[in-house]
Amino acid sequence: MKKVTRREFFTKGSLMTGGAITGIALGRCLMFPPVVQAAGVEFSESSCNEKIKTNQKILVTYASRTGSTGGVADKVKQVLCDSNAMVDTCLIENVKNLDSYHAVIIGSAIQRSKWLPEAVDFVKTNRKILTQVPVAYFLTCLTLYFTGEKFQNKARAYLNPLLETVPEIKPVDIGLFAGVLDYEKLSFIEELVMKRKMKKKGIPEGDFRDWNEIESWSERLCLKMIGKQDRAA
Ligand SMILES: Cc1cc2nc3c(=O)[nH]c(=O)nc-3n(C[C@H](O)[C@H](O)[C@H](O)COP(=O)(O)O)c2cc1C
Repeated sequence: MKKVTRREFFTKGSLMTGGAITGIALGRCLMFPPVVQAAGVEFSESSCNEKIKTNQKILVTYASRTGSTGGVADKVKQVLCDSNAMVDTCLIENVKNLDSYHAVIIGSAIQRSKWLPEAVDFVKTNRKILTQVPVAYFLTCLTLYFTGEKFQNKARAYLNPLLETVPEIKPVDIGLFAGVLDYEKLSFIEELVMKRKMKKKGIPEGDFRDWNEIESWSERLCLKMIGKQDRAA
């Protein structure tokens, strides 16, 4: 039998362990590709009052990774629909044309302290038309799992880069909402990273959307937007 030196034993051992870990990771990545979200993520899109004769056509559009911002968009839509506005809710990448809207509400999940890039791009691309109609912004994040001024200010600051990039768009209001932490809907890598971060911060898994708060904000927004829809010349 061939003798294995101590050095050979450790070298072979680490190669085998490394190989096994890489194999498991690769297998896991093939089963759960990091860029693809787990099944069960739904992005809500709908319209209301399509047959009502109204000049109050409003778009609620949003950017999301795991679907929870769509739930907020849906609630905003519902409040506006109850006020007889004609409303479309749509994922930001599916918005075709803004010409027919008299007001636009734009929301995004926060990732890495920022609105998602497609939401920022949407505002930049449509900056001209968005200066001519009432616009509101909203965000969902986990900073607002905690209550208090400090966290409100931190969440509000997430929008500063956008406000500075397109200062000509002056939102009539900004909604800041707590979001959802659902590890099942994250990719393998994101789940690992978020579990570590959230443990450190003391944020548990859960749905922290406050529907009463979202409803109150939408009602205030409704008062500000409906009646303000006439486009500036
Ligand atoms: C990869 C990742 C990064 C995140 N970064 C932040 C962050 O910097 N600040 C924060 O408050 N929340 C952060 N969140 C929390 C999300 O904003 C929150 O879960 C939101 O509700 C997700 O919305 P969605 O389901 O529409 O994608 C992060 C979530 C993920 C998955």
